[in-house]
Amino acid sequence: MSSGLGAERGADESRHGMWSGRWLFVMAAAGSAVGLGNIWKFPYMAGENGGGAFVVVYLLCVALVGIPIMMAEVLLGREGRLSPINTMRALTLTSRASSAWVLIGWMGVLAGFLILSYYAVIAGWALKYIVSLADGTFNGANGEFANRAFNDFLANPGEMILWQTVFMCLTVYIVAKGVTGGLEKAIRWFMPLLLVLLVVLLGYGINSGGFEQGVDFMFRFDWDALGVDGVLVAMGQAFFTLSLGMGAIMAYGAYVPSNVSITTSVVTIAVLDTVVAIVAGLAIFPIVFANGLEPDQGPGLMFVTLPLAFGQMPLGALFGALFFVLVSFAAITSAISLTEPALAFLVEEYNAKRSRVAISLGVICWVLGLGSVFSFNLLADVHVVGSMTFFDFVDYVSQNLMLPLGGLAIALFTGFVLPKANVRAQLGLKGGLPEFLWNTLVRVVSPLAVLTIFAYTIYKNIG
Ligand code: PFF
Repeated sequence: MSSGLGAERGADESRHGMWSGRWLFVMAAAGSAVGLGNIWKFPYMAGENGGGAFVVVYLLCVALVGIPIMMAEVLLGREGRLSPINTMRALTLTSRASSAWVLIGWMGVLAGFLILSYYAVIAGWALKYIVSLADGTFNGANGEFANRAFNDFLANPGEMILWQTVFMCLTVYIVAKGVTGGLEKAIRWFMPLLLVLLVVLLGYGINSGGFEQGVDFMFRFDWDALGVDGVLVAMGQAFFTLSLGMGAIMAYGAYVPSNVSITTSVVTIAVLDTVVAIVAGLAIFPIVFANGLEPDQGPGLMFVTLPLAFGQMPLGALFGALFFVLVSFAAITSAISLTEPALAFLVEEYNAKRSRVAISLGVICWVLGLGSVFSFNLLADVHVVGSMTFFDFVDYVSQNLMLPLGGLAIALFTGFVLPKANVRAQLGLKGGLPEFLWNTLVRVVSPLAVLTIFAYTIYKNIG
């Protein structure tokens, strides 16, 4: 698959290649998980859904649903050693199960397209902000200026398309060339640097005068502020941020050497991902309150608050530009993983050339992404369902319905259909408490959590 997947092929290896060790897998999966979902989406979703209670539901979902389902995805991938669609085909055969389970793979490919289509648009905003920070646009800016700058940008579809195109071309280029090996090595530097810059922002937030209010907003449990849909959105966010439910992690799992511990790797990835999201929230909300901004302003939250903070810092233009470089980098490593299920499948089925497939995928997602671009300007008043714009709709359906549904099916298949012996061998289970815990989480807790949250939302929306 890539130059990072260098080991020789043997019986127990994927035809696409293998990660050359546990750390490369952890880095690649963390590269997939840590992205716009942590820094852009988590704070604005928490802001729109009232803060504390949202964060609690989100954390519970990561721990009780996300970790077991990520383990299940890696396990299935390593068991099948193929793209998610063909892995599910192979595993339904060995398990003598209905071929309907293969839908997990197909729905994942579709969800990947939908997510990448708007992901590239938002990542384009991050690219644009590298330039805006570097050229000093935000030096000494106040809240009103930062707000206006962002709204002016949104009102200009041409500029948004330009940056969306740049991001999509970068992604397609990397995927086509298969140069992800270099990226995995770069993540070793970029991820800690991103965290350092977030901590610098956190330091700024602590001194901004809004820190207490920010912490209070993020951690005070106020159930009433959450709203009906908030619970579903928090669960969807847990899936989105960990890249679960659509086969991205299953695809990466196919390249994991058999001696790597799935449990340790998955817990490491989930903890890393959660730390980045929480620190991002703790950096952003104090700035919101210190500057009299609204926590529920939606997708613009990060793009209004952070330039404001950088604009007031010494060397802010430099740090700010660097920060948005790191965010764009995090977005690219996630975007690459969004293409992997479809890409690996087409390469397997048609022996297609990686570059050709990558370009076709890129073009389709780019065209679909135009709908999201126009949702912020030309088509802002066109509502696809209820009050949702095209962007809101694509985001809602993929994150809150498709990913949890995919995750549910993955948990059920792993918990009840795949032969027990295979699962035990993959996870190194030998009975006792660990096995009991695993079985409880994958068979009972995570499926029930997803089903209950679906049922709760439907009931409340109807009632
Ligand atoms: N986890 C990524 C983020 O938080 O930005 C987004 C993502 C990547 C979702 C890959 C799903 C996926 F398969």
